[in-house]
Amino acid sequence: EKRGFRHFMLKEIHEQPGVIRDSLEDRIGDRGSPVRLGLPTDLFAGLERIYIIACGTSWHASLVGKYLIESLSGLPTEVNYASEFRYNLPPLSDRILVIGVTQSGETADTIEALKVAHQQGVRILGITNRPESSLGQKYEHIIDTRAGLEIGVAATKTFTSQLIAFYLLALQLAHLRDTQTPERIHEILTGLQQLPTHIENILDTQERYITELAREFDATRDFIFVGRGLNYPIALEGALKLKEISYIHAEGYPAGEMKHGPIALLDAAVPVVAIAVPGKVYEKVLSNAQEAKARDARLIGVAPLDDPAAVETFDQILPVPVVDELLSPILTVVPLQLLAYHIAARRGLDVDQPRNLAKSVTVE
Ligand code: F6R
Repeated sequence: EKRGFRHFMLKEIHEQPGVIRDSLEDRIGDRGSPVRLGLPTDLFAGLERIYIIACGTSWHASLVGKYLIESLSGLPTEVNYASEFRYNLPPLSDRILVIGVTQSGETADTIEALKVAHQQGVRILGITNRPESSLGQKYEHIIDTRAGLEIGVAATKTFTSQLIAFYLLALQLAHLRDTQTPERIHEILTGLQQLPTHIENILDTQERYITELAREFDATRDFIFVGRGLNYPIALEGALKLKEISYIHAEGYPAGEMKHGPIALLDAAVPVVAIAVPGKVYEKVLSNAQEAKARDARLIGVAPLDDPAAVETFDQILPVPVVDELLSPILTVVPLQLLAYHIAARRGLDVDQPRNLAKSVTVE
């Protein structure tokens, strides 16, 4: 069932264009009702705040989700680790929506945190690809991300599908709260529909290059990933993918934070992967990357190929097509998934079943 792929993880990375198409299918409407998630509007009426709770990769998707919800709809949103939220509840009320995000739908930390929040009378929304799971069965309002079952322990297609759910939700909120013009909503929805083709291009053109690049890190012990804004969570995700399947120490930072301490770690043995895509913080990320280069770090950019400033800055570029900055996380994560995969596969590791990890973590 790996359909010719060496591992499920690689197969699932390649499934992402199809998953995104499925998750958008029949959910885009007309001007009067641009997003159709099947959720009642009273779920969102009079809302004051959103808390999103999740763990691991789903927590990273949630950080992007917070950015999308706040920037598109203006609704204050916080993201919490489920394991922290559970024992440190903020003041809650019926004007608060708590969103639980979990691919397995079984993560004990997330399920238990939702339970205690529910007891406080909040509204609950679940985001999962497994509506048949404990999460899906317990709560009435669920967005099915339609990624289907994921077999590789390292989450890939479920992550991108959670991001799609957050785009749709944020646009729905923007529509209901009248915070974006219908034209802007339409523009983002159209951009979302073009993402699968862009991912196909990245997969077609970069697989071989990244396989080769991975050979250069046989002796590497540490990696740093940096990004800013809504690509900061992608830096965290790139680092998590690498550490969980290759066992290489990797950390993600907001690029602007490097100079406040972590830059002391850098030398020629520590590659830095920077996500630098045109938008609000592009020049800033490039200049943060140059600070790393001045410490002899090897610099890999997830960046546009045809921009002279990027070509000048990076030793290697993993190119991503230029899209609306808001949509870029869905593209920038793909080369990072491939990089982690190929480094781990080259080390001969059990990519689909990394040591000490399970696909669904049912202990708190
Ligand atoms: C990372 C990974 C884990 C999970 C985390 C939450 O690749 O798979 O970090 O994201 O255990 O799992 P779910 O989403 O099932 O709640």
